[in-house]
Amino acid sequence: MSDQWHAVALSRALGRKPKRAFFAGLPVVLFRDGQGKAAALHDRCPHRFAALSDGRTRNGEVECPYHGWRFGADGRCTAIPGLVGSLPHFRTRRFAVTEAEGAIFLSEGAPEKAPYVHCLQGQHVIVRHVTSSTRSTLIDTAENILDATHTHFTHKGLLRGLSAKRYMVAVEVTGGPGWVEARYTGEDRAQGVISKLLEGERVKTVGRYRHPGIAELEYWGPKGMVLATTFHLRQTDAHTVEGIGWLIGPKQGGLGYIKALAFRPMFRIALEQDRRVLSTALENARHAPVAKPVIGPLDFLREDIARIQAGEVPLAAATPRRFQIEL
Ligand code: FES
Ligand SMILES: [Fe+2]
Repeated sequence: MSDQWHAVALSRALGRKPKRAFFAGLPVVLFRDGQGKAAALHDRCPHRFAALSDGRTRNGEVECPYHGWRFGADGRCTAIPGLVGSLPHFRTRRFAVTEAEGAIFLSEGAPEKAPYVHCLQGQHVIVRHVTSSTRSTLIDTAENILDATHTHFTHKGLLRGLSAKRYMVAVEVTGGPGWVEARYTGEDRAQGVISKLLEGERVKTVGRYRHPGIAELEYWGPKGMVLATTFHLRQTDAHTVEGIGWLIGPKQGGLGYIKALAFRPMFRIALEQDRRVLSTALENARHAPVAKPVIGPLDFLREDIARIQAGEVPLAAATPRRFQIEL
């Protein structure tokens, strides 16, 4: 985990004011240094533990709201207002920070590689950002994003048609170190409002989980990928999962922009439908008796996601699986 990048905020959400985020079990203050580069420190002033994020940014440093101690991007205390004489050495913990594709990423370590952001990274595509906060667990939230069978119920009419008609679909589950994916082929063009508006013919859908908490969906037409969503998820406390998502589509002349306008609000509706189910499920799980959820015969990814989270290689890496289902 420590050598991974984790998306913690959208770049546009960090302006002149410092901002609090939760990362690695700690409150972290994000701010911009003199060059506009994002910096991240433990959001706890070493003096009396005030939250630095309640203070302000001054000349690229963050100023504590309590006694005004100031800290630079490297975590060093650079000023103690009122002090006459030399400054003692105090510091607060800093985190590695990088920005990519409109988001701020943090790491506890020092990753060598740039962060993986989304499946069409670096290409000329239309991107819309979304953020979410869900009362749930990371595995339940990731599974929910990748779960094809709930769409008939939770998103009836939106992602699926109103009829109960289903089609025979082939599912292939494959994986490797740090990832597992399910490929669905043979679907009819999906009949939900979103699909009608945004897609043409659908030849395959891919749902993929990647370490350390990335859930992505790809919709493929005969000429390539037509739509994709990549969600970076983080468990910020025992019952909250925060997500930063990229909604991505090709430009298709100007048409892509029109689609993108329609996409985000509808996506928000779907997100809200999922949040409701997930938060109720979390509350239910906390009532006695303590139990483990049942892994159903169509829950293709659950166990492998759990293995990846535990730092193990998913079963699908050695043994790809094939299924036929009605979707
Ligand atoms: S608590 Fe931060 S300066 Fe005193
Ligand atoms: Fe959903």
